[in-house]
Amino acid sequence: MTRLATPTALPDLRGTVAVITGAGGGIGAGIARQFSAAGAAVVLHYLTSKDQSAALAAELVAAGAEALTVRADITDPEQCVALMQAAVDAYGRLDALVNNSGVQPNEPLEDMTVEQWRAVVDTNVTGTFAATQAAVAVMRHSGGGSVTHIASIEGSHPARAHAHYCASKAAIIMHARTAALEYGAWGIRVNTVSPGLIDREGLAAAWPDGVQRWLANAPLGRMGASTDIGNACVFLASPMAAWITGHDLVVDGGMGASPTW
Ligand SMILES: NC(=O)c1ccc[n+]([C@@H]2O[C@H](COP(=O)([O-])OP(=O)(O)OC[C@H]3O[C@@H](n4cnc5c(N)ncnc54)[C@H](OP(=O)(O)O)[C@@H]3O)[C@@H](O)[C@H]2O)c1
Repeated sequence: MTRLATPTALPDLRGTVAVITGAGGGIGAGIARQFSAAGAAVVLHYLTSKDQSAALAAELVAAGAEALTVRADITDPEQCVALMQAAVDAYGRLDALVNNSGVQPNEPLEDMTVEQWRAVVDTNVTGTFAATQAAVAVMRHSGGGSVTHIASIEGSHPARAHAHYCASKAAIIMHARTAALEYGAWGIRVNTVSPGLIDREGLAAAWPDGVQRWLANAPLGRMGASTDIGNACVFLASPMAAWITGHDLVVDGGMGASPTW
């Protein structure tokens, strides 16, 4: 029997403020919901998903939480600065950033153009770098904070047609480790969460063989939920992770332990 564990209590993040990038998307919404359930005020960042992020903010506010939406293109450093400033203007502080925004197109190396390669690296790597730098500029003057990048198991395992994506996720895992080294003295912890396959509406119909392979091989026998990733991010942002930095937390239902031969 597969047991879907639902935590009965999250770490207490009341009085803290978290920025979640890409909160209009699948995993980002799950992360935002868990930060909000833990008591944090959440800044729901979006690029194009204005209606989805507004609906999520309304849902959280209706449940008694504090939430607002802010638009930014994370590939533009000035917009990243404005995003963090919006959090400070609204709530007076910034404690946690989750760099969830990312793109994941498929293209075999044989056909991949330099433009396609650059587009993935620009969003996934440069955007993560720029958002982190903007958040750290705020956090370092207020006693510290937590930054978590959403990487991927593909940051350490290759996947066909995903060379640009795999390389980008490997890059942000190493960015986080280096940032942990440089920002530790300011009380800022930087980690990554590497998800396995996360379920979303329509996935099983769109990619039946991939989902089937996953279900057949994952020790815990299911795909992840966006809230599984949210729980890991809440943990890393909480005092329970006070001595954890430069770490890559793999959240994959055990797939990494599954034999590949
Ligand atoms: N799904 C999985 O199984 C899986 C597994 C491992 C890792 N991940 C990673 O988890 C993260 C979320 O993935 P997801 O599956 O939830 O995908 P998603 O729904 O497409 O969410 C990605 C978000 O990134 C935002 N974004 C894209 N380009 C941006 C830019 N230039 N500036 C700011 N925001 C930008 C988008 O915002 P708008 O919608 O507002 O445009 C979108 O909401 C990604 O980093 C992905 O690589 C996913």
